[in-house]
Amino acid sequence: MERRPLGATGLSVSAVGLGAGRIGGPEKPEADVDRLIGRALDLGVTLIDSARSYGLSEERLGRALRGRRERVVLSTKVGYGIAGIPDWTGPCIAAGVDEALQRLRTDRIEIVHLHSCPREVLEGSGVVEALVRAVEAGKVRVAAYSGEGDALLWALRSGVFGAVQCSVSLVDQGALDAVSEARSKGIGVLAKRPLGNAPWHFESRPAEPDVAEAWDRFRALRLERAALSWPALFARFAAFVPGVSAILPGTANPAHLADVALAVEEGPIEETQLTSLRASFAREGARWLGRV
Ligand SMILES: NC(=O)c1ccc[n+]([C@@H]2O[C@H](COP(=O)([O-])OP(=O)(O)OC[C@H]3O[C@@H](n4cnc5c(N)ncnc54)[C@H](OP(=O)(O)O)[C@@H]3O)[C@@H](O)[C@H]2O)c1
Repeated sequence: MERRPLGATGLSVSAVGLGAGRIGGPEKPEADVDRLIGRALDLGVTLIDSARSYGLSEERLGRALRGRRERVVLSTKVGYGIAGIPDWTGPCIAAGVDEALQRLRTDRIEIVHLHSCPREVLEGSGVVEALVRAVEAGKVRVAAYSGEGDALLWALRSGVFGAVQCSVSLVDQGALDAVSEARSKGIGVLAKRPLGNAPWHFESRPAEPDVAEAWDRFRALRLERAALSWPALFARFAAFVPGVSAILPGTANPAHLADVALAVEEGPIEETQLTSLRASFAREGARWLGRV
């Protein structure tokens, strides 16, 4: 598995990370999470992305990583959901970091994102300063922002964040200029939703609004996959956008993670096909906003 620098942070990450949003459901057996992490490590996947809002994800990772914590770069997200403290305040960030440290059973988290707050919150609520204090205290290595649109641009230009996370996929090409700007500034980029929420799976419009939007886009774009499978096409597109440090496919299925890892090892998709995929988006999707 290729490893890449996360911008100028000094961290290096596997080109394919694990989006750990799907291990948070209580119905998921703990042994499955252990197997998933074991397979990820065997594949060379050493970046794992979680969030406070992903159910049991953080605490399960904490347990599954016992004895192998040093082999991974951990990423999580904060900003909300602390009992007795208003969301999107400095104290909420400080407590979110402390609780994430406990759940993940570690004394330092490599990457902590402010999780999808709007620009006004970034500018005036003390959350950025609180995250910086957590870095200064040695609890967090890299301060990061996760989001889209003008908040993402503000984050890139603030001089505060070492990394950002935004949607990058065939159905989410709107952030490619921002990714390029991040690259020029030495800011690492983690590509979320890299498979565009796997819209090819659905015969009819899915119920979840974010997935439904991806499905609408997928149909409008009428993409040509040529000889590649859909997951391979999506993964290779996102992983080789210049400036993307790593993609974060979301799965709890070790075989799916392996498919993506092996596809990315094949390298970028062929130039003419790439040009046509970019042109489809320019034609149909010029006004589509990044899916938060
Ligand atoms: N910061 C944020 O606000 C935010 C928002 C969204 C996502 N994220 C990050 O991005 C990660 C991924 O996002 P996501 O899960 O929404 O979208 P995604 O990775 O684009 O799509 C996930 C879908 O792809 C399917 N899939 C994965 N590998 C596959 C394969 N090899 N073949 C066929 N299907 C495959 C999964 O099905 P199976 O479950 O069956 O494998 C699932 O339905 C999250 O876990 C999180 O880390 C962050």
